[in-house]
Amino acid sequence: MNKEEILGRIAELRKERKAVILAHNYQIGEVQDIADYTGDSLGLSQEAARSSAEVIVFCGVHFMAETAAILSPQKTVLLPDLHAGCPMADMITAQELREWKARYPGRKVVSYVNTTAEVKAESEICCTSSNAVKVVNSLPDDEILFAPDKNLAAYVARQTKKKIIAWDGYCYVHNQILAADVQARKKTHPEAELWVHPECRPEVIDLADKVISTGNMVKAARETSAKEVLVGTEAGILYRLRKENPRTAFYPVKELAFCSNMKKINLIKVWKALEEMQFRVEVPAAISQRARGAIEKMIQI
Ligand code: 13P
Ligand code: SF4
Repeated sequence: MNKEEILGRIAELRKERKAVILAHNYQIGEVQDIADYTGDSLGLSQEAARSSAEVIVFCGVHFMAETAAILSPQKTVLLPDLHAGCPMADMITAQELREWKARYPGRKVVSYVNTTAEVKAESEICCTSSNAVKVVNSLPDDEILFAPDKNLAAYVARQTKKKIIAWDGYCYVHNQILAADVQARKKTHPEAELWVHPECRPEVIDLADKVISTGNMVKAARETSAKEVLVGTEAGILYRLRKENPRTAFYPVKELAFCSNMKKINLIKVWKALEEMQFRVEVPAAISQRARGAIEKMIQI
């Protein structure tokens, strides 16, 4: 089948299955183009919660599909490639979190959505990169356990009076963006603004004009009067920023900031997912119920 035929088949199956296609901002351009909704982790979880579709084809990574399954247990959630995981989410297991909590009795856990359902089930509340400060400040406690991203934790710690105790995890894509990369880019683009994701290292964040989630980068791009912007996050976001804002030039801080898991999904796999109804992501009821509380608390905020 050629591309046109695959697109045609996806369109037919989407109707037949009463399916919605959700895509993260880091997905390849072709997948973003066929999605009903493209957004950041928060936007995607809100969209999954309110969608009236019977099937959600989730073009992202496993924890995102799990979150959709937790919020919409009556829907069928499909991840077109079951190997699309998030290495940061795998940096803390539920058992490790239980042991960590035991070392800090009485402290509540804020877990980034980039975690497994089991870890969410052990957490007080979840957060995303766009609401982490708000979520932490919403708790009455003075000391908070924050997992798994130490860079996001350090960013939050600077915006709150609370003491943040961080797990030692990180996103390898954002962690490889160095202050030296920013400085090299700034030499060739001295007038450019610098926007970075809060998963970046503190020394990169120190150099930034804006520290924002991918969804907020999409919004900021519509509003900016800057002619050039250096973007410190995964390279997939550039497709959307450039497509929607042809008058602004967007450059990656690091060309190779590339999440291989986010790139595992393509049009053929989306078509196969709808055709074969694969790969179903289901969360056992006992875990789902506990994890759901932590996600819903976040969505309410
Ligand atoms: P956001 O899109 O929520 O900013 O998250 C970035 C990310 O790394 C998702 O895996
Ligand atoms: Fe995980 Fe980082 Fe890839 Fe996001 S970009 S899915 S945090 S490894």
